[in-house]
Amino acid sequence: MKEKIMIIGAAGQIGSELTVALREIYGSRRVFATDIKQASPEVMDGGPFQILDVMNDKMLIHFVIQNKITQIYHLAAVLSGNAEKFPTQAWRINMESLMNILEVARMVETVHRVFWPSSIAVFGPTTPHKNTPQLTVMEPTTVYGISKLAGERWCAYFNKKHDLDIRSIRYPGLISYKTEAGGGTTDYAVEVYFKANKNKRYECFISENTKMPFLFMPDAIDATIKLMQADRKYISIHSGYNIGGLTLAPIDFYHEIKRVIPEFEMTYKPDFREDIARTWPESIDGSTATKDWGFEVKYDLTAMTDIMFEEIRKKYGE
Ligand code: SER
Repeated sequence: MKEKIMIIGAAGQIGSELTVALREIYGSRRVFATDIKQASPEVMDGGPFQILDVMNDKMLIHFVIQNKITQIYHLAAVLSGNAEKFPTQAWRINMESLMNILEVARMVETVHRVFWPSSIAVFGPTTPHKNTPQLTVMEPTTVYGISKLAGERWCAYFNKKHDLDIRSIRYPGLISYKTEAGGGTTDYAVEVYFKANKNKRYECFISENTKMPFLFMPDAIDATIKLMQADRKYISIHSGYNIGGLTLAPIDFYHEIKRVIPEFEMTYKPDFREDIARTWPESIDGSTATKDWGFEVKYDLTAMTDIMFEEIRKKYGE
């Protein structure tokens, strides 16, 4: 089957890279990028791009039918930090947009597969903190986490009730150089590279020893595509797959960045995001994802750091 893929949130941190990767695989004309705002020139000029608001269900269904979309990647969301500032809006945006997608996928016959990102934020303070299992206690205490857990349950429901092939990953903090994250708790791990290059110093909003799970964006993109290309018979999880990754604290970034920029200095001023971080796991058991569709991590902290600085310096100089 010739896929026609729609991406919602193509201007975002994941979307801006996933769009490019999918166009390389499926051909640029077959990957339809959408967002409520303008995206990078690479995304907007490299294939079809349209301004589209996923909250507008009529426009959404029209677009999907008109373009005979076969797969949807719904990446738009309000992240954890911002969701705490605007709880009701965040809940509405995260949930209604997912419901719109699930309904469109159920109603429009051409759509046969959906990707929706979940997050490590589905876990909470009562979850085992280390090597968090796929199936475990889930009592998230953030608005974002509650919306992701509810979303996972809706995905599993549509799978069971309507046989919808929806796939999901519980992403850890994602580190990338193309598009900065926005409003998340793990964002410090992106900011620190940009600030280290520019100012040689960084004030971190997470305390020095608070560990969280992370992944370099190329590994996250690779995982997403692997999951979406896997034969349906191997998919055993219809809520969200745990994936393993790197367990890192700010102090680890500090030491690693000092290797490249010896004069780098880091200070700590934890804010409300520290409280969020403390409720999340520090490491994840991703063995089900590895068994089902072959997930693996390729980049460690050192390899990632070298690439981050190489790319940031290409763009902004030293
Ligand atoms: N990176 C996200 C956040 O910090 C977690 O999914 O909100």
